[in-house]
Amino acid sequence: MPTILLGIESSCDETAAAVLVDGLLRSNVVAGQEVHAKWGGVVPELASRAHQEHIVPVVAEALRTAGIAKEDLGAVAFTRGPGLVGALLVGTCFARSLAQALNIPLLAVNHVHAHVMAHFIRDGSNRPSPSFPFLNLTVSGGHSQLVLVRSPLDMEVIGTTLDDAAGEAFDKGAKVLGLPYPGGPLVDMHAKLGDPHRFQLPKPAIEGLDLSFSGIKTAFVALVRREESKQPGFARTELNDLCASLQSAIIDHLLAKTRRAIRLHRVSSVGIAGGVAANSGLRERLQELGEREGVEVFIPPFAYCTDNAAMIAEAGRHLLEAGQTAPLDIVPVPRTS
Ligand code: KG4
Ligand code: ZN
Repeated sequence: MPTILLGIESSCDETAAAVLVDGLLRSNVVAGQEVHAKWGGVVPELASRAHQEHIVPVVAEALRTAGIAKEDLGAVAFTRGPGLVGALLVGTCFARSLAQALNIPLLAVNHVHAHVMAHFIRDGSNRPSPSFPFLNLTVSGGHSQLVLVRSPLDMEVIGTTLDDAAGEAFDKGAKVLGLPYPGGPLVDMHAKLGDPHRFQLPKPAIEGLDLSFSGIKTAFVALVRREESKQPGFARTELNDLCASLQSAIIDHLLAKTRRAIRLHRVSSVGIAGGVAANSGLRERLQELGEREGVEVFIPPFAYCTDNAAMIAEAGRHLLEAGQTAPLDIVPVPRTS
């Protein structure tokens, strides 16, 4: 009998479900939530309601495209946290009920660990994955971490943001430029057309491997407001150079810390994961850093960088193999640190 595993993701503003059959990805469905765009950020109550609307059709679609009946499922993995509590509750309750109804194991996945597992999703392509141990830069809307990955179940956070996440710096910078949420992909798009040296932003002076983005963000917001008050329309006319300068300051900081971690921990492979790993400038410059430092670079395809359930199912697969199943009365953990 093949092992058929359903993964469910509902930590923020994407409702997602994926099916793995003997470790091979058979479906990967993601429903986004446009309802937040006009508010300039994710509204937790609206996210929770949208998850409730989406979860049944998204899971049904994942099963249908995989050609699987729910009775064939052998286990269900879900995101336990970190994330928005009302959003996590929807996926948690759904997964608990399914596990109970079908009498199958329940697997509680840490969302940030799951982002790292994006490197190992097997989908029929011959993409190589990093060998252990490797260094991973996990950068999303909620997290920025440097992680030493020793195995799928052994990850050590060796550096973390002291304030905002990298994705937040992109999104808040985009907001002051009048771009809709989530602004990261739009900053990326405009940055391609702009001059990254046009506007100088501070380099965060943080010891060790920790990160900080609030200085860059505050300086950027102040710059835009100051210039906008002197020359109305400044943000619009200088949009490309502003985006390029913001993106370059964020990437400089991320890569300075990554280079330091590579040297300190003498790793031979480095990966990126999380929504910000979809950034084309970061992908390109990490490749260059890898070449300079003599380390191999691993970058998952876009679809596995932003929130998805394939990574949840992949992380759940390892929990199942290790016998680490969850009790049916398990509750979400919105914060893990
Ligand atoms: O991993 P993710 O989908 O959700 C969280 O777990 O937070 O990450 C979402 C974040 C948002 O801040 C979004 O703006 C950012 O990833 N993002 C990007 C790009 N695509 C998504 N940031 C910069 N450039 C991109 N191309
Ligand atoms: Zn995420």
